[in-house]
Amino acid sequence: MKTTSHDSVKAIFESLEYGPAPESADAAMAWLERHGRSFGHFIGGRFVEPAEGERFATVHPGDGSELGQVAQGGEEDVDGAVRAAEQALPAWQGLTPFERARHLYALARHVQKHARLLAVLEALDNGKTIRETRDIDVPLVARHFYHHAGWAQLLESEFPGYQAVGVCGQVIPWNFPLLMLAWKVAPALAAGNTVVLKPAEFTPLTALAFAELAAEAGLPPGVLNVVTGDGRTGAALVAHDGLAKVAFTGSTEVGRIIRQATAGRGVKLSLELGGKSPFLVFDDADLDSAVEGVVDAIWFNQGEVCCAGSRLLVQESVAARMEEKLRARMETLREGPSLDKAMDIGAIIAPVQLDKITRLVEQCRAEGGRCYQPSWASSLAEDGGLFFPPTLFSEVAPSSAAAQEEIFGPVIVSMTFRTPEEAVELANNTRYGLAASVWTENVNLALDIAPKLEAGVVWVNCTNVFDAASGFGGYRESGFGREGGREGMFEYLKPSWEAGLPAYAADELWSGPNGAALGEGAPGADGPGPGGAIDRTAKLYIGGKQARPDGNYSYPVLGADGSHLGEAPLGNRKDVRNAVEAARKGSGWSKATAHNRAQVLYYLAENLQARAAEFIHRLRAMTGATDADAMREVEASVRRLFVYAALADKYDGAVHATPFRNVTLAMPEPWGVMAVVAPDEAPLLAFVSLVAPALAMGNRVVAVPSARWPLAATDLYQVIDTSDVPPGAVNIVTGDREELAAVLAKHADVAAMWYVGTADGSAVVERESADNLKATWVNGGKRRDWLDPGQGEGREYLRRATRIKNIWVPYGE
Ligand code: NAI
Ligand code: MG
Repeated sequence: MKTTSHDSVKAIFESLEYGPAPESADAAMAWLERHGRSFGHFIGGRFVEPAEGERFATVHPGDGSELGQVAQGGEEDVDGAVRAAEQALPAWQGLTPFERARHLYALARHVQKHARLLAVLEALDNGKTIRETRDIDVPLVARHFYHHAGWAQLLESEFPGYQAVGVCGQVIPWNFPLLMLAWKVAPALAAGNTVVLKPAEFTPLTALAFAELAAEAGLPPGVLNVVTGDGRTGAALVAHDGLAKVAFTGSTEVGRIIRQATAGRGVKLSLELGGKSPFLVFDDADLDSAVEGVVDAIWFNQGEVCCAGSRLLVQESVAARMEEKLRARMETLREGPSLDKAMDIGAIIAPVQLDKITRLVEQCRAEGGRCYQPSWASSLAEDGGLFFPPTLFSEVAPSSAAAQEEIFGPVIVSMTFRTPEEAVELANNTRYGLAASVWTENVNLALDIAPKLEAGVVWVNCTNVFDAASGFGGYRESGFGREGGREGMFEYLKPSWEAGLPAYAADELWSGPNGAALGEGAPGADGPGPGGAIDRTAKLYIGGKQARPDGNYSYPVLGADGSHLGEAPLGNRKDVRNAVEAARKGSGWSKATAHNRAQVLYYLAENLQARAAEFIHRLRAMTGATDADAMREVEASVRRLFVYAALADKYDGAVHATPFRNVTLAMPEPWGVMAVVAPDEAPLLAFVSLVAPALAMGNRVVAVPSARWPLAATDLYQVIDTSDVPPGAVNIVTGDREELAAVLAKHADVAAMWYVGTADGSAVVERESADNLKATWVNGGKRRDWLDPGQGEGREYLRRATRIKNIWVPYGE
């Protein structure tokens, strides 16, 4: 028996060196061996041989050892999986919510039961530390299924009027393989959908293990299918026409490709993409806590975290002290084998990622950044494996690549600010908007800053905390949609009214002044409208003023009987740009109180009512409606304004019940600048139905009214002028619907867009928005009944007119 000498114990106490504390890999190895270290896809409740024989290795990044061979899924495999999910759908949806809840509950129980296997397998396949998989990833996975077992149970009472979307295709990354599976699969199943999941090529094992556990737990075959493979498999999956929904987490670049691949297919989409999240430290912050915060922000999971706090912004007066403390803390971090329970940082996922980190770090050095790494960094490389040391850059220019690009590694860049205004400006100086962390002991300051940050999650005096009850997701190029909480459930549901809409009849939508051959001899068909004594040429409405169109062209508006009713401006690209600029400047509307917005909407309603006769006359002349129908449309428009005036101060946020000493505020925020494009029919009511909810929630709107009959909207200018609507809150550009819609979709300063028109136009809007990743809501060529409040108004409109920001505020000492 080996004995430890008194001296060596003493030496250990003096140096406080850690000895190795390995977790056993036995359970994971046994699982791999049981499968002969070779895996097919998991389809229809069992492992199946891939259609083509191609396989590839998945390795442990810590030492490069091969863990097993997995299949490279092709189109045939994907098709088989989607079919299995389709076949499983009716029976799965036929279950009662209670029965589905029991299945989700069983999944949570099984995750807990097999927590050790899953934690070890995850650490091996990804290279992250066992401490994280055991204490963070796997418990959060179980929590996610428990939480969503609840939503499954409460589906009918909590989401009345909504239904499951169908088969969901889900593509996930390698940084949190099992947790991302949970974030995707749990809400999808809870809502009554079936799933085909494609895990990342570097980390397919826990998804396969989970699918197997799910089958053991009694999940019906085909409800959850897993197809492995690389980006080609992912591309084949998102291209499959059997999908009703695609959910993706990964790089912004691939997010754009997926936005394009799904455009025009009526596929519901959520994208959780990259980030370059700010970590703000104010001069009154508890610096020691903030230092621990930085450790969790950027050295958690090797910095391979989409919401990693990778830009450290420190108030100038405490910057030197903060850096000193941070350097001291970096010295004590431990990096090494994943299964060593005392490690803080594990291995980088793959050589390609290590190269990317190395390249960006070299670039930052070359750009003059001052680089600090702990003294032990140099010995790291000797151990082999894909390790990169914790790295802190200071003296970095805000515009440098290191400050702008997502490095996705353990590298933080630090900058300083003087005032809170400057802090907000620096924080928002990014194309991303996933998360932000704010450190100050002053709650007034924290809650003043949080709403000003363009990010989906704001952590006050904490960072990288997650819970199933709280939504997670981005602003701007970090994508759209939320995962977790009530807001996340909506990503897997659709309003039942939307599901049942008919398509427009062939000639119901006018192809627009550019698309249509203008009636022969129609006045103004090819030039400026007729001037004359009575100028019947309407103008555009931009920044609270009537404006001539840039091109000075107009087009005739013809009545149902062919009579010439007047001229509408033919707005172009430049006019759209001016309107967006005016909306951008009209930010006061977004800051107005909800009460104030309600008053303005009531005022609009009142003024419209006062001129009802005029509008009835206009509608009759344009659409040929009967007196009664025209009256009904005007009345419905007034009522709709009343409804949104009423709702303006009643669309509340929530305080999520996250299991910490903490309030998590789920705040609905306006998008800022929104575009709405209205169809031809019901030219007053459809226009009001789209503009009013956007306004009620505090958006500034650029609206394109009915192309065929725009005069009901241009008649509104005077109503708007007399209703205290501030300049820039509503901007109206008439002209060719499809042309204007495409320009708006492409415009980077339009954050969200609703389009109601043709199927082709819907596709264009989704495709053209891929570059700026705005959130879109299109009708896919389906006709709504605007008079029916079930279709033409309601909370779905308000939900689409806002995005949820979750602000985490811990309390207690
Ligand atoms: P990626 O975005 O290419 O991969 C994510 C997932 O998408 C994987 O399952 C992949 O197989 C799949 N995929 C790739 N191309 C696809 C396509 N055309 N259609 C459908 N699915 C496709 O990310 P990758 O290559 O692993 O990493 C590249 C960079 O992306 C990283 O350096 C990092 O900066 C960033 N990244 C960000 C993540 C985040 O959560 N924000 C997660 C992973 C990577
Ligand atoms: Mg691997």
